[in-house]
Amino acid sequence: MTPGRKIAALAFIAALVLVSAGPAVYPARAAEDPASSCVSCHAKLGGKLGPPAREFPLSVHREAGLTCVTCHGGNPALPGEESMSPKHGFRGKPSRKQIPEFCARCHSSIAMMRQYNLRTDQFAEYRTSIHGKLLFERNDPGVAVCTSCHGMHEIRRKSDPKSHVSHSNVPATCGRCHADAAMMKPYRIPTSQMEDFEKGVHGRILAGKIQGKNPNIAPNCATCHGIHGATPPGVREVANVCGACHSAVVGYFRESAHFTAIREGGGPKCVTCHGNHSNRKPTLQVFSGTEQGECGSCHKPDSAALDFARNAQSLLGNLDNTINEIQKDLVYAERSGRNIEKLKQELDNARYKVTEAGPVIHAFAIERILPIVQEADAHIRKARQEIQDFQAELQQRRKVAAYAVSMLLLIAALLWVKLKLLPKASPPGEDNQGLNSGTDGG
Ligand code: HEC
Ligand code: HEC
Ligand code: HEC
Ligand code: HEC
Ligand code: HEC
Ligand code: HEC
Ligand code: HEC
Ligand code: HEC
Ligand code: HEC
Repeated sequence: MTPGRKIAALAFIAALVLVSAGPAVYPARAAEDPASSCVSCHAKLGGKLGPPAREFPLSVHREAGLTCVTCHGGNPALPGEESMSPKHGFRGKPSRKQIPEFCARCHSSIAMMRQYNLRTDQFAEYRTSIHGKLLFERNDPGVAVCTSCHGMHEIRRKSDPKSHVSHSNVPATCGRCHADAAMMKPYRIPTSQMEDFEKGVHGRILAGKIQGKNPNIAPNCATCHGIHGATPPGVREVANVCGACHSAVVGYFRESAHFTAIREGGGPKCVTCHGNHSNRKPTLQVFSGTEQGECGSCHKPDSAALDFARNAQSLLGNLDNTINEIQKDLVYAERSGRNIEKLKQELDNARYKVTEAGPVIHAFAIERILPIVQEADAHIRKARQEIQDFQAELQQRRKVAAYAVSMLLLIAALLWVKLKLLPKASPPGEDNQGLNSGTDGG
């Protein structure tokens, strides 16, 4: 424990004594007592009774000076099960329904938490979540309580990579219930969220599967649903939730007829087109398709909207195709040893413009896309010019080469004629003689 932490722990224990006015005044002396009968006995027990004693030493609570007795009561100085007598304040374990308030006793106390710089709204938020509502209003113990997400005794800081709630571990923590078909059956909600999420861009970045992308920039389940107030985000929140990171997209989206239509109750939201958990980037097919989330699923064939869709598809599709073609020419030019710097630059500029179109498309207005397409086109034209120059140069070289070859052939032919015209000299050597005689004979 660092000196700072030690002071914090001592201050915490003092605060505990001050704050807990009830019968439970926690005996601070057991704080670091390895001879605690609770630990020595439980560490030897099997089943559910052993893990608390083995896991607790790894927890943030142990570091803060809490002991078994702080939460469960009893007297660790007494040997045997006498230590667990209600006479000594032993309370046993809280029921599932009691757990949130049990943890909140400390975590909602500003006086206690201030020194650790921890928020104190977890319980208040939890009560507003679907989990909290079902627990308190319908007595449903199947929902998540504090220990479902944080663990029972091995509770770690959220910054600890081994914590169940560290940024990258959250999907598995929620998925333990939400991906379990048997557990979710009574509620009749889908159980595909974790699988979809893991396949999508966000999930792959979070799991470190996309090279060069920092997992901390991707959302996890709690980023979108709220950490303690886990509720599906409403319509307005969705644009806000996504907009926290995709601000450029949302900026254009707010200009669109869709944004107005959402407020009137019928337009497509981010998740209509992108899915809520897979968050795929649509291919250009979305413009001509009629499946759910594709433009044709809402718009009639002769509408202005599908006019826009057709234009956008053909403009963006042409840009893609042209850039791919030029890329092939570029590879060819590079192999033949030309200086392709300028060509490369123009192609990169064109590509960059196309990526700008990604967010801009969300204005769903042709006058927003056209300028980008025109700028991309200008770069493409310059790139094409480069290629034409290469080709002209190539043709020039071919002409020169062809001329050189024909000249050489001409010289060879002249030489041959000249050789033919020379008077025959009798060749030396037997073999030649034999040949000659053979020819003569024929
Ligand atoms: C000699 C061994 C021993 C000692 C010492 C001991 N326990 Fe236990 N504890 C047990 C056993 C055995 C059980 C299961 C008893 C049962 O199910 O009735 C148990 C049960 C528990 C439970 C679960 C109760 C429940 O409601 O399910 C808690 C919590 C607990 N002990 C905490 C403590 C604490 C805190 C101390 C120290 C103050 C302590 N124990 C000391 C053996 C021990
Ligand atoms: C921060 C408070 C806290 C501390 C400290 C703590 N416990 Fe617990 N313990 C709990 C809670 C809450 C539960 C019930 C968890 C649940 O049901 O999800 C529990 C459950 C238990 C159980 C029952 C396990 C089961 O699966 O039924 C035992 C036994 C137990 N604790 C023993 C201990 C021992 C021994 C220590 C000290 C090494 C300890 N606890 C320290 C809060 C605490
Ligand atoms: C549905 C899962 C879930 C439940 C239920 C839950 N938590 Fe959390 N908790 C988290 C996650 C995820 C984080 C990490 C937040 C982050 O990365 O900022 C967290 C963070 C915390 C923190 C660290 C400080 C903070 O607020 O960022 C504390 C303390 C905490 N929770 C206490 C509680 C208490 C007390 C309860 C019960 C009233 C509870 N939690 C219920 C998931 C949960
Ligand atoms: C007796 C008071 C007390 C109780 C009861 C208690 N805690 Fe804590 N908890 C603390 C203190 C103090 C810290 C701060 C430790 C630190 O930062 O060094 C803490 C820290 C935490 C953290 C780490 C916060 C972070 O930095 O990310 C989590 C998570 C947490 N508690 C969850 C729980 C849960 C869940 C329960 C109920 C099972 C619970 N606590 C019950 C006092 C308590
Ligand atoms: C202990 C199991 C469990 C854990 C862990 C858990 N949940 Fe839940 N969750 C439930 C149950 C049960 C429901 C109630 C289903 C219903 O009727 O809506 C629920 C409801 C929800 C809902 C509302 C669904 C709807 O449309 O009705 C959301 C959103 C949600 N959970 C998100 C999360 C997130 C995010 C996490 C992790 C940070 C998480 N849950 C962890 C069990 C769990
Ligand atoms: C990028 C934001 C985002 C992330 C990340 C995210 N969700 Fe969702 N989730 C949503 C949206 C949006 C909805 C749909 C809300 C609506 O239709 O009103 C939703 C719906 C849900 C529901 C309700 C049932 C359903 O499928 O419609 C559950 C349960 C749920 N999410 C759990 C999770 C879990 C578990 C994770 C992590 C594995 C997760 N979510 C990650 C945005 C997200
Ligand atoms: C915590 C930040 C964050 C939140 C919140 C978030 N995203 Fe993302 N999203 C990212 C990051 C980071 C990427 C990866 C961008 C990249 O590749 O550079 C991404 C990628 C995407 C992509 C794929 C883009 C591509 O080029 O393949 C789509 C689609 C997407 N997000 C939609 C959404 C939607 C819809 C929501 C709200 C329901 C949302 N995002 C919420 C951070 C976030
Ligand atoms: C009507 C359908 C539709 C809606 C609604 C929609 N998008 Fe998109 N989104 C698309 C299409 C189509 C593309 C692909 C454009 C392309 O191929 O360049 C895209 C691309 C993206 C990308 C990738 C952008 C890039 O840089 O390549 C992100 C991120 C994104 N959308 C987020 C969002 C968010 C956030 C919202 C809500 C504010 C949203 N989208 C609403 C259809 C939609
Ligand atoms: C969930 C239904 C839905 C989907 C899917 C959808 N739209 Fe729309 N769209 C609307 C509504 C509602 C309006 C506003 C009423 C209207 O103008 O038809 C609208 C309006 C428009 C407008 C303005 C039309 C005008 O008359 O000015 C354009 C352009 C548009 N959408 C393009 C698209 C494109 C492109 C796609 C596919 C990428 C798409 N929409 C997908 C529902 C949808």
